[in-house]
Amino acid sequence: MVTTVSILGSTGSIGTQTLDVITANRDRFEVVAIGAHSSTKLLVEQAHQYRPRLVALADDTYANDVRDALPLGTEFVAGPRAFADLATEADVCVNGVVGFAGLPVTLAALAGGKRLALANKESLITAGPIVAQVRNTPGAEILPVDSEHAAVHMCLADHRRAQAAGLPNRLRRLVITASGGPFRVRAREAGGGATALRALESVTVDEALAHPTWSMGPKITVDSSTLMNKGFEVIEAYELFGVPYDCIDVVVHPQSIVHSMAEFTDGATIAQLSLPDMCLPIAYALAWPDRVETPFGRIDWEQLSHLEFEAPDREAFPCLDLAYAAGRIGGSAPAWLNAANEVAVDAFLHGRINWGSIAMVNARSLSAHDGARPLSVGDIIEADRLARGTATHIVEEVQL
Ligand SMILES: NC(=O)c1ccc[n+]([C@@H]2O[C@H](COP(=O)([O-])OP(=O)(O)OC[C@H]3O[C@@H](n4cnc5c(N)ncnc54)[C@H](OP(=O)(O)O)[C@@H]3O)[C@@H](O)[C@H]2O)c1
Repeated sequence: MVTTVSILGSTGSIGTQTLDVITANRDRFEVVAIGAHSSTKLLVEQAHQYRPRLVALADDTYANDVRDALPLGTEFVAGPRAFADLATEADVCVNGVVGFAGLPVTLAALAGGKRLALANKESLITAGPIVAQVRNTPGAEILPVDSEHAAVHMCLADHRRAQAAGLPNRLRRLVITASGGPFRVRAREAGGGATALRALESVTVDEALAHPTWSMGPKITVDSSTLMNKGFEVIEAYELFGVPYDCIDVVVHPQSIVHSMAEFTDGATIAQLSLPDMCLPIAYALAWPDRVETPFGRIDWEQLSHLEFEAPDREAFPCLDLAYAAGRIGGSAPAWLNAANEVAVDAFLHGRINWGSIAMVNARSLSAHDGARPLSVGDIIEADRLARGTATHIVEEVQL
């Protein structure tokens, strides 16, 4: 049976890798809808190559460029609302949109009772409790695409069966692995802790974008350099698996072979290992509970000489603990942190603040959180707006 797929954010790193997975498994998956923000040229190329029934552009300024260039018979829609509507056009919706803009896609897919292959972690970070409500829609399910959460999903297979059978909870903790990003070694060589944070203050954008093991979009790559991404993944794990923050740990594992682990009350730890290739978690989310036949890299055990693990340097990379703090505060605090971080990373990428200021903008913005507990999407949008305003103001104060 062929599974139909809609890909929102088809022109990005996750989107193009989803298309690679589908190209390698044409007998299993069919693309019926694709959407991007403003990368019109690539979107049109994808439409000619994959012949989806529907194409969407979130930014309607460029609508004419796309409409006239699509293959005959392709339906075209433009604007953010129409873009999110594509989420329900297929069996599986891949949400590869970056940032807060991905939330409407998540909500539409789940409310439509679809499987959501979720790369857009910001949906869960900003609106976890609201996403949890729509997740109860009959037929709706989330398959995580983040490699760490796909790993946890695999490690918890027996645990889910035991829970469904009414057995007691025997899960002790989740251990989320982190590559440590491009500055792990530099931080250690600088002496670690606050001294390292000072030494890293003015690293360049190119240095922050040079991730040692993963090739990803610019926003998440910068987030990996500050460990903000790992912090967001802790919040994501809390929302996805319902495990308390005290039972979610982070360990640095520079080789990015062990993608995460689950430890049980009897001392057993189950880990998922594979080469660092996002095609694997994407294919897992599309095919689960089946798997695809194409291997996306296979571990050569004779070449793999060692796997290292170490504690994260929480002082040199304070964004990690900011995420734990925001998660524990709850309410709209994670949404505040996410919005502040989007503003700070954008300012860094455009040369307005230095790398060291990202954590400072995030910390000051979070400390201004108003304690709100959002009950609706409107409340989340308002929290996002307020936090962006606060962060923008702080960026203006500290800019270079
Ligand atoms: N890349 C990875 O390996 C990876 C791994 C784990 C999780 N993730 C998560 O996956 C998500 C996507 O990351 P990425 O690295 O693929 O990002 P990316 O390469 O920057 O791609 C982002 C995609 O989102 C679209 N987009 C941007 N703004 C939009 C808007 N306002 N409305 C609708 N679409 C919009 C972009 O369209 P245009 O091209 O037209 O701008 C593009 O297709 C993020 O949440 C990230 O944290 C990524």
